[in-house]
Amino acid sequence: MTDEQLIEAARAAALKAYAPYSGFSVGCAILSEDGELATGANMENACYRLGLCAEQSALTTAQHAFGLKRIARIAVAGGNGSGATLSGEQSVTPCGGCRQALLEASHLAGRDFDILCASGDGTRVERLALSTLIPHGFGPANLSDAG
Ligand code: THU
Repeated sequence: MTDEQLIEAARAAALKAYAPYSGFSVGCAILSEDGELATGANMENACYRLGLCAEQSALTTAQHAFGLKRIARIAVAGGNGSGATLSGEQSVTPCGGCRQALLEASHLAGRDFDILCASGDGTRVERLALSTLIPHGFGPANLSDAG
């Protein structure tokens, strides 16, 4: 699967978001080393702060489908999902909580991931290494002194 196809999968996943409160639909597509695809979208609820982000939704699916250790590439796209296709011109980078969740997967896999951060319309894409998005992050290794 090409990067463009992975971004299209993230854009398509965003159309399945449940985001009536923010009106902002986000999709995430995760590809395994063997070419398996796991997708997710944000899911909100009336208690606004308890909504689930697209990345964490997709990470859960990836864990069940092939395991976090086998993640190869990730794409995120977000924007207005009220039409037939996702729209919007600004690329979406993962929020802080999602960076932390992605860091856990990166530690399990034993390597850094590139995240393709796309706009809703798919025309703007930034390729950002997770280590750039969350430098000096707190990961499993930081717990080595736990009792
Ligand atoms: N959102 C995500 O799904 N992922 C991110 O990385 C940024 C934000 C969602 C949360 C909320 O449902 C909506 O976008 C607006 O913040």
